[in-house]
Amino acid sequence: MSSQRTNPFTATLGATPPLLVGRNEVIQDFGFALDDGPGAHERISLIVGPRGIGKTVLLNAFEDEALERGWLTLSETATAGFVERLRSDIIQLLAKDRKKLKGLNVSILGIGGGLNWDTRAIAESTYSLRNALKDLLAYKRELDRKSRQQAGGVLLTLDEMHHQRSQELIEFGATVQHLVREGEDISVVMAGIPSSIKPLLSGRLNGSDDANPVTFLRRANRIDLGRVSEADVREALEEPLHQASTSWSQEALDIAVEACHGYPFMIQLVGQSAFREKERASRGANEISLEAAQRGVATAQRKLGQLVHEPALSDLSNVDRTFLVYMAQNEGPSKIADIKARFNKTGSYVGNYRHRLLDAEMITDTGHGEVDFALPYLRDYLREHAAGLIAEDFKS
Ligand SMILES: Nc1ncnc2c1ncn2[C@@H]1O[C@H](COP(=O)(O)OP(=O)(O)O)[C@@H](O)[C@H]1O
Ligand SMILES: [Mg+2]
Repeated sequence: MSSQRTNPFTATLGATPPLLVGRNEVIQDFGFALDDGPGAHERISLIVGPRGIGKTVLLNAFEDEALERGWLTLSETATAGFVERLRSDIIQLLAKDRKKLKGLNVSILGIGGGLNWDTRAIAESTYSLRNALKDLLAYKRELDRKSRQQAGGVLLTLDEMHHQRSQELIEFGATVQHLVREGEDISVVMAGIPSSIKPLLSGRLNGSDDANPVTFLRRANRIDLGRVSEADVREALEEPLHQASTSWSQEALDIAVEACHGYPFMIQLVGQSAFREKERASRGANEISLEAAQRGVATAQRKLGQLVHEPALSDLSNVDRTFLVYMAQNEGPSKIADIKARFNKTGSYVGNYRHRLLDAEMITDTGHGEVDFALPYLRDYLREHAAGLIAEDFKS
């Protein structure tokens, strides 16, 4: 049982929050697509958004939708070797339930011979991911038939997609497309950050002559995950405290909501840190004071720097980072003309980096020749760490 001292917030990447806000519509649409049968567009979806916006948590919510409908789900992270991992996961799953495969038209019986089901012994060349998925789908149909349950398909989720794995993704995409064309009851949901996904969609793949975008990704239902509304933030900060018999003082809640800027990770960071500050000031107290909230917000900002800003900046080039440091000299949106002057470079040079940063969704175009930061508190982080982030060529 949770007591008054149990912190209800989950400020951990990938951890499902106590209250998931602002995502009902996409989750519902995904559920409708599962109900609608093979071919429904949202069954093949691609979630794109910055770190901490809630991609992994949404994948988990999609899995729950599938499980509720009696689907089988498999989840993988798209790091090197994911196709092989997926294949061997399926072999293991089938091996576990070997008896039920008898009498089914599955190709694994032909090569497995009922003897050695060691995954490594079943070679890719004789038993591909496509074979494995076909067998898994046949097995699932058989299970549903026997249990007389409503039939459900197979959902695959693939997190942390990256253009560096484009070859594997092309192979994976071809497999999925075959199965979709054959009318199989399958769904695939993928997620990744914009700088890792955009090259896959545009065909500008790093260090390869491959000009082909991964077509199946282009056709996928694209979910651009953004910030949530202020009302949603308020609810996500307030509601989880009920179980801890705690609440925010009015001013505390107001500053906490404002500090989140609609950014989901910040909701959990602010909530968790403010709750801790309340405990620090007075154990078991049932109200978060303004002071506790203020201290909590400061801690949350620091953690956001470590967990989001730092890795996001390390994905970029030196010049990209310098561009951002120059932007941070402004209080609000920066004029491109000013950035150009700070670089002392031509318009096309600066235009190129502007474009790259827009693509990576690190900045947004606010119109009138101005750009602004896409992530909350990045300006403060850059100001604090400017010296270490500016490229050598531009140090004066
Ligand atoms: N819709 C939401 N409402 C409340 N908290 C959320 C929401 N989405 C994500 N979070 C929280 O934000 C953090 C980051 O979510 P995560 O799914 O790991 O982001 P991403 O995968 O995009 O980096 C987690 O602590 C999670 O609990
Ligand atoms: Mg994630």
